[in-house]
Amino acid sequence: MCGIIGYIGHKPATPFLVEGLTRLEYRGYDSSGIAVRNGDLEIHKCAGKITDLVSILPKKIEGTSGIAHTRWATHGPPSDVNAHPHCSVDGKIALVHNGIIENARVLRNRLEKEGVKLQSDTDSEALVHLIHREISNGSKPLTAVRRTLKRARGTWGLCVIFEDHDTIICARNGSPLVIGVGDGENWIASDTLPLQARTQQVIRLEDGVLAEVTSEGVKTSRFDGRYSDSNVTTLDEDWGEAELGDYPHFMLKEIYDQPEALRQCLTGRLDLKDGNARLGGLGLTPKQLQKIPHVRLLGCGTALLASQVGRLVIEQLARVPALAHVSSEFRHNDPVIENNALHFAVSQSGETADTLAAIKEIQLKGGEVRGVINVVGSTIARQCGKGCYIHSGPEQAVASTKAFTNMVAALTLFAIQIGRARSLSRTRGKQLVKALKKLPQLVESYLDNPGSIMDAVDALKDAKSVLFLGRGISAPVAREGALKLMEIAYIPCLAYPAGEMKHGPIALLEEGSPVVVVAPNDSLKDKTISSIHECRARGAKIILIHEEGDSIAEEADIAISVPSTDPILSPILTVLPLQLIAYHTALILDRDVDRPRNLAKSVTVE
Ligand code: G6P
Repeated sequence: MCGIIGYIGHKPATPFLVEGLTRLEYRGYDSSGIAVRNGDLEIHKCAGKITDLVSILPKKIEGTSGIAHTRWATHGPPSDVNAHPHCSVDGKIALVHNGIIENARVLRNRLEKEGVKLQSDTDSEALVHLIHREISNGSKPLTAVRRTLKRARGTWGLCVIFEDHDTIICARNGSPLVIGVGDGENWIASDTLPLQARTQQVIRLEDGVLAEVTSEGVKTSRFDGRYSDSNVTTLDEDWGEAELGDYPHFMLKEIYDQPEALRQCLTGRLDLKDGNARLGGLGLTPKQLQKIPHVRLLGCGTALLASQVGRLVIEQLARVPALAHVSSEFRHNDPVIENNALHFAVSQSGETADTLAAIKEIQLKGGEVRGVINVVGSTIARQCGKGCYIHSGPEQAVASTKAFTNMVAALTLFAIQIGRARSLSRTRGKQLVKALKKLPQLVESYLDNPGSIMDAVDALKDAKSVLFLGRGISAPVAREGALKLMEIAYIPCLAYPAGEMKHGPIALLEEGSPVVVVAPNDSLKDKTISSIHECRARGAKIILIHEEGDSIAEEADIAISVPSTDPILSPILTVLPLQLIAYHTALILDRDVDRPRNLAKSVTVE
């Protein structure tokens, strides 16, 4: 949700700024811009993707310090003027901002009354004019930014560059910023991806902290002026740079990454002898696990749907009540937080603002939250302190794929661990551990031979809408399939628990309506067959995801089989054809698969 990049040092800044923007484009891609200190401040910005920005950049921009931004619009539509950086009236100060300034209207009105001509519709622009005023009144850059932020309400990760001062001022409150520390040069970015190739030494700014960055060093302080320790840490997990290799899109690459990603998630966490799993980072003893009255999982988007699978697995294996909550709703409902209850925040990026807000609500009420996170050292991971990483490796495509399967796998490991501390037998534990060990190989074999995906694409590509159905553990899988297709192919999709279909969505069915049904070989299959019959009786065309060798295939117009596994692990296999269907449908419709319109990978505003 907006990406920020900065550089100050002895090399030309522009190549790193552009490369960094490309790495952060997943955070927003409706417009972008750069400001480089090249005698004057040289600013270039435009609506569109990074490639559009690159096409308007002069061949060579001198200047060894600069800031840049890729935007996901909140205030004001994507346009050239609304693109960041925003600039002071005299052109001597430029600012990039990620977050939302909640009192922007008041600040803008005041500035306008005082005669400042605002150029854009954004909330961010007001800040640069206020900083300019402080500088005109004789403040140094750091003081000017600090004084300005005292008047702002909301969230920010921001960088400010000055024509007359060889420094970049950064500030963080709610939106992430990381500073890469080098020798005679320093880098700034919204996350560590653009930094990994340059340095392993980073300072992760905390909320309420400002940083004065020069080529020589970084000085941090708190908003109230108190000293703040600039803790330099070493990047603990170097993912390297996410490269496409021979794949045309990150989404396809990440779908095919899944066998290896799963292996990474399971490695060292399975105990076949004891039929158990161990997530040491949770810091929970068997005794503590026995006392947990209920488990609550929080997430957004795909992480929410993985949580919905996870809560069913936990409830089934551990016989402990478990619920999945929409993060963005959670804190607004004044939730009751019970002592000893276990909360999980599930997030790929570890930066999602809604999930972070839910965590803070729980912590404020005395509860503990553990993270189930992909990005090591991310804000949510640090806010929780304890948890488990899902080890998917970098996920770049906006539509999440390998993070879903690894979230489900990690939550399944937890379900076994808490189950074994309670009533789950060693024999059942062993069965599950064995089945989990086989899973990466099964995923691989499915992906090598994915079946009639293109027939399904043919049936879906011109549909007005698509209904997805599943029962029990397959209901959230159906939702995930619908989310994927909707996100990247822009086809309206509805997902329902199969049994609920007759209470509403059945009214939509007419001759030829496509219905995607997820029906692994579990105890609910016969009931799902009844739902299929109800759909077919209304002329619907059934696209069925089923287990190989199962005669249920006869019920379908298009049947796609996945390998057999323990029914409770089926989501990790049944979701695969749904990912491929969404990918290929989007492709055939000529959509921007990795960068679907209006979305962003990391949503750092509430
Ligand atoms: C955005 C992305 C989704 C993602 C969701 C939660 O909406 O477009 O793909 O599932 O955020 O993100 P998180 O990083 O918290 O898993």
